[in-house]
Amino acid sequence: MKLSTNMKKALNDQVTLEASASNSYLAMASWCQVTGYRGAANYFYVQSDEERTHMLKIVHYLNSLGTIATIPATRAPISSYKSLEVLIQTALKSEQAVTKAIHNMVEIAQKEKDHSTYVFLEWFVNEQVQEETKFETILQKFDLLGRDKLGINEIDKFLAAEATAPADAAA
Ligand code: FEO
Repeated sequence: MKLSTNMKKALNDQVTLEASASNSYLAMASWCQVTGYRGAANYFYVQSDEERTHMLKIVHYLNSLGTIATIPATRAPISSYKSLEVLIQTALKSEQAVTKAIHNMVEIAQKEKDHSTYVFLEWFVNEQVQEETKFETILQKFDLLGRDKLGINEIDKFLAAEATAPADAAA
């Protein structure tokens, strides 16, 4: 099966997005660890690994169809944040951008009657629902538990538990 030029570009762009997300979450993990948020640090180390697996899924898909995946150079991610809440807001925005890109690819697949890629993308569509919900839930905690030291400590504990939860439960 041959991928269209348009679809190849979209998939390769998605490799870049997933690689950037992985790097960005690694930088977030580093900031959290050094700032003293151990739970959040573990959470983002895991999240960074997850993004790399997303990238690899697409790399393997492209290669399996005889299109050598383009392994991208990525821009250096932000390395410092004003607060844990701002960091989570940034993560949510990044996931929303990824969702948009995935939906755009689904539309290309539909238009081109590329059924294989359409089915391949189904996993990503579902994954993005979970990813956005995860960060929305964490953001809600700031309202529920508060933004003072005790509240943030509880949020950090929540993130620690999420980081060690089984993959489907943490998703
Ligand atoms: Fe791979 Fe979180 O999007």
